[in-house]
Amino acid sequence: MALLSVENLKIYYNTPVGQVKAVDGVSFKVEEGEVFGIAGESGCGKSTLVHSLILRKPPMFHAGGKALFKGKDLMKLSEEEARRIRYTELSIIPQYAMNALNPTKKIKDIVWDLAREHGYDDRNEVEKLLRERLGMVKLSPKVADMYPVELSGGMRQRATMVVSTLLNPDLLIADEVTSALDVTTQRVVIELLHHFMEEDIVRSIIFVTHDLALLDKIADRFMVMYAGKMVEIGPTEELINEPAHPYTSMLVESLPKIGVRYKETKLKGIPGYPISLLNPPKGCRFYTRCPYVMDVCRRVEPKPVTIKDGHLVACHLLGGEGSE
Ligand SMILES: Nc1ncnc2c1ncn2[C@@H]1O[C@H](COP(=O)(O)OP(=O)(O)OP(=O)(O)O)[C@@H](O)[C@H]1O
Ligand code: SF4
Ligand SMILES: [Mg+2]
Repeated sequence: MALLSVENLKIYYNTPVGQVKAVDGVSFKVEEGEVFGIAGESGCGKSTLVHSLILRKPPMFHAGGKALFKGKDLMKLSEEEARRIRYTELSIIPQYAMNALNPTKKIKDIVWDLAREHGYDDRNEVEKLLRERLGMVKLSPKVADMYPVELSGGMRQRATMVVSTLLNPDLLIADEVTSALDVTTQRVVIELLHHFMEEDIVRSIIFVTHDLALLDKIADRFMVMYAGKMVEIGPTEELINEPAHPYTSMLVESLPKIGVRYKETKLKGIPGYPISLLNPPKGCRFYTRCPYVMDVCRRVEPKPVTIKDGHLVACHLLGGEGSE
């Protein structure tokens, strides 16, 4: 059984001008022991999707579908139940994590508050574990006695990773954890995530990024989202080398290639802009930017079809029939 099984999930925001359909019928599974990636341009719903699994606060609300985690539907948990499984079963390193730690508390106090909330009663044991884990991420044990503001950006990122994984969650969600970091620190963070899996600190990871080159390095499989919808999902190697959806192909083509001089070769971007999620158009949400758009695309939403084992694509070019 998959660790997480998301089925036709819909997560919207209430706004004074209407509902923003940020996640609009997305399905995917995260298996035991895998790194599952979620990719797509800014605003396509990645953070909304992963945050909704843990905490839904107005104006965000659950508009339909399920998210079965170890057999329990996360959409039906009470606030108390959700708090109980956070950090111990399901943990998130949020986007902008560098600023997520309480600036008025020392790292050891942040960790102790969290451990106590989850039933731990031996402060010495918890601090011993904290110092061990700090060593694992190549931070001095002295960091335990420091305030977050005393740490550099990269150090704070690693401290946040330690806090998020201290209680050995089964599933770790990493939302854009590398985007504010330089390339060397990015590599360290990726290595650490692998290390957490090797050491059985976490069993599976959802890695969210707009950067396909990073997914190529870390993910076993990934899903591409566009305007609140899943457009393609499959093994990383297949998606990078044989992308089937026009949007995935354009994302892959826009990756910078080593050895190519950009004075001579212009980087290919994706023309046009993402659509508004307030009033998304009928049909395929990518039709306003797709070079292959056909009449049917403007009327009928393409349904995901399996093109190879475990590789699904939602596009009329591949026979994704759907309803008007
Ligand atoms: N609190 C909110 N109220 C209304 N709309 C929101 C709110 N938060 C996000 N949205 C909208 O939901 C959509 C998805 O946003 P989300 O942050 O999930 O995208 P993302 O893929 O994580 O983007 P990024 O790559 O920039 O982090 C966007 O259209 C965004 O404007
Ligand atoms: S369904 Fe049509 S518009 Fe959408 S990606 Fe496929 S060809 Fe392009
Ligand atoms: Mg985001």
